[in-house]
Formats: sequence, structure tokens, C-alpha cells
Amino acid sequence: MQHSRRKFIRKGLAATAAIPLISSGLLSCKTKTTNSLSILILGGTSFLGPNQIKYALERGHKVAIFTRGKTQPNVNKTVFDNVEHLVGDRENNLKALENRKWDVVIDNSGHKATWTKKTAELLKETCGLYLYTSSTGVYFPYKTDDIKENQKLVLKMPEVLEDEILKLEYGYGVMKANSELEAINAFGKERTIIVRPTYMFGPGDKTDRFIHWPIRLAKGGEILVPGKTNDPVQYIDVRDVAEFMIRLAEDKAVGTYNVVGPSEQETMLAFINKTKDTFNAENSIIQIDDYDFLKEHNIYYLIPWIMQDEYNYGSARINNRLALKTGLTFRDIKTSIKETHNWWYSDNLTDKRRAEVETNNSSVLVRERELIKIWKER
Ligand SMILES: NC(=O)c1ccc[n+]([C@@H]2O[C@H](COP(=O)([O-])OP(=O)(O)OC[C@H]3O[C@@H](n4cnc5c(N)ncnc54)[C@H](OP(=O)(O)O)[C@@H]3O)[C@@H](O)[C@H]2O)c1
Repeated sequence: MQHSRRKFIRKGLAATAAIPLISSGLLSCKTKTTNSLSILILGGTSFLGPNQIKYALERGHKVAIFTRGKTQPNVNKTVFDNVEHLVGDRENNLKALENRKWDVVIDNSGHKATWTKKTAELLKETCGLYLYTSSTGVYFPYKTDDIKENQKLVLKMPEVLEDEILKLEYGYGVMKANSELEAINAFGKERTIIVRPTYMFGPGDKTDRFIHWPIRLAKGGEILVPGKTNDPVQYIDVRDVAEFMIRLAEDKAVGTYNVVGPSEQETMLAFINKTKDTFNAENSIIQIDDYDFLKEHNIYYLIPWIMQDEYNYGSARINNRLALKTGLTFRDIKTSIKETHNWWYSDNLTDKRRAEVETNNSSVLVRERELIKIWKER
């Protein structure tokens, strides 16, 4: 059971190399508000990057990206015409970054602490700020609630860990926590910004974690909602993260931020109640609150909902007050869901990619009707 529960997380990990925020001066409008910055994005062609690039260009900044040239964006493709593309490999080839200067380095592709150490050391004399994209995964295992930025982090893997998926979850958190330290060691606290986003969703998502809801809500009918009445959820539109990051850089708002939505604590039921009429479809909620039933049918999570077990108790209880005070804003959730739905059915994706999700026999999407029938007859 434990293993199956973690399969879903492993998929997220594989896809993102990860599971599973001024004062009032930070403005959310798209017009240029500060001097033009030169920004280097390490990564930039996956999920967060294309959204950072679009917003940065709209605000008059110059952008260069550094990748191996393998990953192709599936959103905002045209913005790449206005971006300098540097090619190399964080593992062993940083030549393209040598003797170059930028105001800000955004490290999205930090998949190893040694990668962050090498780039931060290389760039610390010539670049102004280092903005490291971390994750709320640094708080794993999520044992408490109201998790603030100053929570003590796990920096070493536990010596004995038999569950392979637990190893991955700890591994991701430990890697992100050590990477944060490498950035700070090289640039100093006074020149480092750390952002820790929760689960991101939106156009361009390559993890296929959240797309269940846009697809499902658009269809109508009886909709399976897992979780107990008070189970909390947290999530954020990738564009809200991307735009907040650029504004933090403009304002040199150094520090560490939990980048987490929505603004107030929310339950899974409240999330569904506020989104169920997003489309022109009648949805009625079938809440399945029996954890044993959910485990028996391999439903350990359906992001943003995650079963509240001993490791995940606090995963949706992260404190976002500092980011809110510093200017983090949120799109309207229904608009975000509609736009994500439009992107999913656009030419940015192939029919094959859509079919992989929509006809996956192990998914709740495919099993939903049968599961509801069994639930009602139990
Ligand atoms: N998705 C979420 O819900 C979530 C939540 C919290 C935090 N995060 C964090 O958000 C960040 C951004 O995620 P993302 O999905 O946009 O991108 P990502 O998967 O972290 O990075 C992909 C980018 O890195 C480049 N890259 C990969 N390996 C490379 C290498 N060896 N050398 C140089 N470049 C390399 C890729 O291009 P090439 O393949 O062409 O090299 C691509 O541009 C990640 O750090 C992730 O941990 C994600």
C-alpha cells in the first residue's frame, strides 16, 4: 500500500526531478516598473521558465537561458525568439557562462546541490543576485502545521530507509535544502533569494498531476472527491510564481519565501465547491472520505489533495504570510483552470500526449464511474 501511494509521487519526481514570495512596492502590473535587468535563467524551457521569460520580457528585461538544448517548451513558444540561448550542461560544461555578466541568475534547473555550487561559484563575481528555485519539498517529512520559512530543514538522508519512494522524497528535500545553502554560501544572504513553491499547475505543466481537474470539471456528472471533510489543500498557478519571482528580483527582495496558495487555508471540499461551476457543466460531488476505501483503490493523492499520513500531515499547511506581505498575488482559480484546459486541448500538445493521460487505465479519470458505483454499493 505504502508503495502504491508513493507511485504517484514518483511520477511527479520523475517529471520535475522533484515531488512529491516589499513592501507594497512590489507591483503586479505587467508594465515595466524598474530599470531593465539582464537575467540569466538556468533552465527556462520547461514549465516555470517560459512563464518567467514572458513576464520578464513584458517588463522590459533582457533574458538569456542556459540548457542542453533538449527540452522543448510547450507554452509561450514565440517568446524564445527574443531570448539568447546558451548551450552547455550543468553536469560538466559551463563554458558558455564563463566571463559573462548578468544582474540576476535564476536557477530553475538545480537538480543537484553540486550543480548549484558550481554555477553560484562561477557567477558570484560577475552577477548581482542569485535566485534559487527551491520547493516546499524541503520541509519533508511534513510533520507539523503552520510551517514557516525558518523551520529547521533535514540536510542529511536518514541512515536507514528501506522504502524506495521515501528515499526519493527525502532525497529531493535534502538536495533542495543543500542547494539553497550552496547558493547562500557563494552569493551571501544579502545577494540570494530562495523561493519555495508548493505544487504548481497551469499551462505548460509537464507533470500531469493537476490536469485531472480541468478535464474532469469540464465534463460534468458525478465527480469523485477524495478526502476527509477537513483535509487541507495548497496549490499555485505557475504564472503567479513566475511573476512574483521576477518582481522579487526587480526589488532585490532577498530572503526566503514560501510561495504557496491560496491566500487562506482551504479544504479539498471548498476547492471543489468553488471550482465545480468553472465550465458550462453540471457537477455533483461524491465525497469519498474513507481512507481505507481510498487506499484499497490506490488513491493516495489527486493533487492538490494528498492523504494526510504521518509524512504528509503538513504538506498543505505551509505558512504563506511572508510572501503575501511581500507582494505575492493569485490569479482567479476558475480562470486558471479554464486557461489550463484550453492549453491542454491546444496545438501545443499532441493527441498522443493527451491520450496518455485520458486513457490511462490506472487513473481516477478512467476508473471514476466504477469507483463511485462500488462506493455507493459498499
Ligand atoms: N512542478 C512543481 O510543482 C514544482 C513545485 C516546487 C518546485 N519546483 C521546482 O521548480 C523548478 C522549475 O521546474 P520546471 O519543471 O520548470 O523545470 P526543471 O524540470 O527543473 O528544469 C528543466 C530545465 O532545465 C534544463 N536542464 C535539465 N538538465 C540540464 C543540464 N544537465 N544542464 C543544463 N540544463 C539542464 C532543461 O533543458 P534541457 O533538457 O534542454 O537541458 C529545462 O530547460 C525546479 O527546480 C523544480 O524542482 C517545481
